[in-house]
Amino acid sequence: MNINATSRVVVLGGTSGIGLAVAQRAAAAGSAVTIASRRAESVHSALEQLPAGVVGRAVDAASSDGLAAFFDEVGEFDHLAYTAGENLTGLPLTQYTVDQAREFFGLRLFHALDAIRLAVPHLSPNGSITLTSGSAAFKGGLGWTLGAAVSGAVVSAVRSLAVELAPIRVNAVAPGVVRSPLWSRMNEADREEMYAGLAASLPAGRVAEPGDIAKAYVALMDQEYVTGVVSVVDGGTLVA
Ligand SMILES: NC(=O)c1ccc[n+]([C@@H]2O[C@H](COP(=O)([O-])OP(=O)(O)OC[C@H]3O[C@@H](n4cnc5c(N)ncnc54)[C@H](OP(=O)(O)O)[C@@H]3O)[C@@H](O)[C@H]2O)c1
Repeated sequence: MNINATSRVVVLGGTSGIGLAVAQRAAAAGSAVTIASRRAESVHSALEQLPAGVVGRAVDAASSDGLAAFFDEVGEFDHLAYTAGENLTGLPLTQYTVDQAREFFGLRLFHALDAIRLAVPHLSPNGSITLTSGSAAFKGGLGWTLGAAVSGAVVSAVRSLAVELAPIRVNAVAPGVVRSPLWSRMNEADREEMYAGLAASLPAGRVAEPGDIAKAYVALMDQEYVTGVVSVVDGGTLVA
């Protein structure tokens, strides 16, 4: 089902960064867009940046009951993008704790799968689901064991989900580093230094903006013959 004025798109995590850019792009194509995220104030401020007609709800993806009520309220729709995520920082193994790992995997994988389970009864058979992985799935880095593991798990989950949920299509986008609020826990000077260092090392010559990544989500929604794949959008991170 193409992305056009008849498409109904839900973006879970759609109030910031990549998800907000997906909502912007889908709305620009004329689709009926619903955004959702945990904090009501995030929903409110995102709606102010989005075209009239976009609808928003506060939903904690960690709550099965909340997700079920949300999808009941949304009703039938065509495309789900799941971009919910929390602040990102590298974590060396010396600082590893099982609780931290559970939290890291929770929102990015466990609750994503729960959201899919609860969304599927409402999804058009011609529709799609797009999850969020990361280029770390394919390239190691100091301190990135957890980020790499969860990104890889999402890629693997997508391959099975595409079979299990067919004809609904299931794909993932794997971004490289994106200039988004996800990095807001770093102090500004360190963050800009990280962006500048990466930009200098990347074939693309710059770090991604959320809009660069959003193009891939909407393309995967639109591409009716693609399922079970991961679209890497990384400015050349994997070949640098
Ligand atoms: N940015 C990067 O460099 C990068 C690179 C690779 C992969 N990724 C992945 O891409 C995804 C999106 O990243 P981003 O850069 O767009 O991050 P972001 O700007 O921080 O946005 C994260 C979104 O997730 C929502 N969220 C957080 N906890 C939630 C919960 N419990 N329930 C529902 N929504 C929740 C936030 O809403 P609230 O404000 O309401 O909490 C926000 O809308 C993440 O999984 C991230 O790991 C990002």
